[in-house]
Amino acid sequence: MKERLEALKLEALQELSGVQSQQELNDLRIKYLGKKGPLTEVLRGMGALSAEERPVIGQVANDVRAAIETVIEEKQAAYQQQETETRLRAEMIDVTLPGRPSQQGAVHPLSKVIQEIEDIFIGMGYTVAEGPEVEQDYYNFEALNLPKDHPARDMQDSFYITDEILMRTQTSPVQVRTMEKRKGEVPIKIICPGKVYRRDDDDATHSHMFTQIEGLVIDRNVRMSDLKGTLLQFVQEMYGKETRIRLRPSFFPFTEPSVEVDVSCAMCGGVGCRTCKQTGWLEILGAGMVHPRVLEMGGYDPKEYTGFAFGMGVERIAMLKYGIEDIRHFYTNDLRFLKQFLHL
Ligand code: DAH
Repeated sequence: MKERLEALKLEALQELSGVQSQQELNDLRIKYLGKKGPLTEVLRGMGALSAEERPVIGQVANDVRAAIETVIEEKQAAYQQQETETRLRAEMIDVTLPGRPSQQGAVHPLSKVIQEIEDIFIGMGYTVAEGPEVEQDYYNFEALNLPKDHPARDMQDSFYITDEILMRTQTSPVQVRTMEKRKGEVPIKIICPGKVYRRDDDDATHSHMFTQIEGLVIDRNVRMSDLKGTLLQFVQEMYGKETRIRLRPSFFPFTEPSVEVDVSCAMCGGVGCRTCKQTGWLEILGAGMVHPRVLEMGGYDPKEYTGFAFGMGVERIAMLKYGIEDIRHFYTNDLRFLKQFLHL
């Protein structure tokens, strides 16, 4: 029996030495060590042995088993190692390869200008408010002292959703919404950037959708000189210390008195050039002292409180600042245009 075991060991080791694949190795493991293998068979026959023989043969059988197992494990380990190496090689990353260039985006010039304007007013103690683009007639017109059939509505024809709901034509309704929200408390100091809509034909300076920034201040003793000082501070931060402003009388239903505000032309310093049509001035916004009726409708007693308001077109401010000649550039997503603002 001992000879049979030794022969078995020799045979197994020989077969194992010629093994070519993991599959073969597995097959051999089953063949020699499996339940139906010769080794199990020998062990099963041990019952027939004498008491002296049994431990000796048992020892030999165990040795044979151990020898075969060791070789199988070694081979198995080698296969695993090989497999890991193959995988590592397949997953290898060449860190010296040049990367794929990623396209760098830029903040849209309009967003940039809005942020700049916000920063300037936040620096003067304002907070930023927002309102809906789909607005009620009441907020867009009525509460701003533009009753139905008021002729001043003509200049601001809009896209109507129903008779009472429209795309807002101005950011001024946020004035009313803010007053309602503040319920008579002062001071109010807000600016409100946002999109507005008008039934306009698009050309180099007009668009059916554009961006405005509204400003509103309400407190006791707010005067016209406060408005003027605020706007001067604003344009000087925006366009440079040497910038001047000029106020011309105008009309808005929600302010009294109303003014139109010009800045000295940044292109020529006010001497006169093509941009300012030789006048030295550029109109940038409308403003005025909040009309008593508007204060009243917003819940503020005009005998106790006064305020000023202003509204500017952001595109125009941006066009003047960056020398952009056509408003449509802002909306057409042409990378050749947008890329010019990458580093500004
Ligand atoms: N909402 C006006 C417009 O779109 C601009 C404006 C003028 C706003 C005077 C104001 C203001 O707040 O006081 O033409």
